[in-house]
Amino acid sequence: MASSMLFKITLIISLLAVATAHRIFAPPSTSTGSNASTGSNVFDVTKYSASTSASASANSKAFTDAFKGACAFKDRSILLVPPGIYQLGPVKFGGPCPCSHITFEIKGTLVAPQDVKAFSGPAWIEFDALHGLVVEGGGVIDGQGQSAWEQHYNNKAISMRFMRCVTGRITNLTFKNSKFFHIAFHHSQGIIIDNLKIRAPCNSKNTDGIHLSSSSNMTLNNLDIGTGDDCISIGPGTYNVTITGCKCGPGHGFSIGSLGKFKNEDNVGNIHVKNCSITGTSNGLRIKTWPGAPPSEAYNITFEDVFLNNVSYPIIIDQKYCPNQKCTTNQPSQVKLHDITFCRIKGTSNTPVAVKLDCSEKAPCQNVKLQDISLQPLTSVVPKISSLCSNVLGAVMGTQKPDPCLIPHAGRSRKNTTSSVSSYAK
Ligand SMILES: *[C@@H]1O[C@H](CO)[C@@H](O)[C@H](O)[C@H]1NC(C)=O
Ligand SMILES: *[C@@H]1O[C@H](CO)[C@@H](O)[C@H](O)[C@H]1NC(C)=O
Ligand SMILES: *[C@@H]1O[C@H](CO)[C@@H](O)[C@H](O)[C@H]1NC(C)=O
Ligand SMILES: *[C@@H]1O[C@H](CO)[C@@H](O)[C@H](O)[C@H]1NC(C)=O
Ligand SMILES: *[C@@H]1O[C@H](CO)[C@@H](O)[C@H](O)[C@H]1NC(C)=O
Ligand SMILES: *[C@@H]1O[C@H](CO)[C@@H](O)[C@H](O)[C@H]1NC(C)=O
Ligand SMILES: *[C@@H]1O[C@H](CO)[C@@H](O)[C@H](O)[C@H]1NC(C)=O
Ligand SMILES: *[C@@H]1O[C@H](CO)[C@@H](O)[C@H](O)[C@H]1NC(C)=O
Repeated sequence: MASSMLFKITLIISLLAVATAHRIFAPPSTSTGSNASTGSNVFDVTKYSASTSASASANSKAFTDAFKGACAFKDRSILLVPPGIYQLGPVKFGGPCPCSHITFEIKGTLVAPQDVKAFSGPAWIEFDALHGLVVEGGGVIDGQGQSAWEQHYNNKAISMRFMRCVTGRITNLTFKNSKFFHIAFHHSQGIIIDNLKIRAPCNSKNTDGIHLSSSSNMTLNNLDIGTGDDCISIGPGTYNVTITGCKCGPGHGFSIGSLGKFKNEDNVGNIHVKNCSITGTSNGLRIKTWPGAPPSEAYNITFEDVFLNNVSYPIIIDQKYCPNQKCTTNQPSQVKLHDITFCRIKGTSNTPVAVKLDCSEKAPCQNVKLQDISLQPLTSVVPKISSLCSNVLGAVMGTQKPDPCLIPHAGRSRKNTTSSVSSYAK
């Protein structure tokens, strides 16, 4: 209660900060646009010859030029995309901008080239080394991924990538049909990500909504994500993430991982997912690690107040994650998972194994807590549901539907037990 209050206050303060920044620095008539030479803090891309009829490459140049002006400004500046539909090729907004904090105000629609080969780097729109960046404006970021999803091409562009960005906010935007991930953060800290809508069809491959890796102190709130892959995925080196008020589906649900694909991966810790609803996804709340994964850890991960509707595998720890059965080893994962809580999880499962805790024999899961789990079978598809545990140590509390496999006997709910593969059905 207190922490959610604090969170709201923080959010209001940051909203005010953004609003004030606009009021203080915006010139009387921002709509006419201007730039540093006239003293204004607004860098309107159309004043740098971007236009709704210009080519993607011409607009990329105009956006880059406008950014240079905004970056060189002596105070907070606004890089403005007015309403309208703009073709846009790859752009990189690279800092540091020593004196300026930039607000990228996207009021229009940005449309990516369809051709996967139009991109030489990993991203379509990339921000690098920016401090206090705000991306907002109510606009649309259209990745035009339709023809890319079925192609085998190993450099499909992420629609928007944030590298080494510290403090800032991305809010009030719609992303659609990315070729690869819609939004990715890498080596970034202290960013608020809120009020976003992200959409791609359920059969679009690798179109994760938001991916975080090597990032910390990230706050995600009020997101509406339906894609062909994970709604939100959390990779190695990510700490202190709070996700609240999210809607997810279709897609693959929430994922911590996949972890352990590479050597010397950083750990993952302190991830809190609260008050989210998940509909029609192929997994719900998932932690996944690869077979043969080298040692690392993922810990203090809490999922609470989550409603799942018509989901396959609502609760799943999968330490033998192997998509397309293309794994080169069947060695156990050495990623140690501990202090994992699922609390007040409700809804329906469309597969028989609604709770699957399949941990590694080499690094058993420790202190996994299930509290007030109330899952029902989606009876039109499955008559009954059960739990499956392997190599997991933990405790159950409160309601348990399906019957838990963490404890062998009803009533001993506070005891830590290990179970081998076992499943109970009622
Ligand atoms: C201001 O905008 C003009 C185009 O209208 C451009 O030629 C000039 O380089 C800009 N100046 C700065 C400092 O960005
Ligand atoms: C989102 O952006 C639109 C267009 O700029 C604006 O009218 C609206 O007030 C913004 N919404 C929020 C919640 O900031
Ligand atoms: C994250 O926030 C905590 C608490 O405010 C702070 O101590 C820590 O330094 C921050 N981490 C980074 C990497 O900025
Ligand atoms: C995570 O938050 C804790 C507590 O605020 C802080 O001590 C720690 O430095 C943070 N971790 C990172 C990697 O920022
Ligand atoms: C939970 O999230 C929904 C959005 O999905 C939001 O409307 C609602 O206010 C949130 N509830 C609480 C208690 O934060
Ligand atoms: C666990 O993670 C949550 C959410 O990030 C954080 O508030 C809490 O302090 C962490 N607990 C410990 C023991 O680090
Ligand atoms: C469950 O979701 C599937 C798609 O994943 C859909 O085809 C089906 O109609 C849904 N069933 C119900 C009862 O919502
Ligand atoms: C279960 O065991 C772990 C360590 O193995 C411990 O940290 C935890 O507090 C125990 N939980 C209960 C409910 O006894």
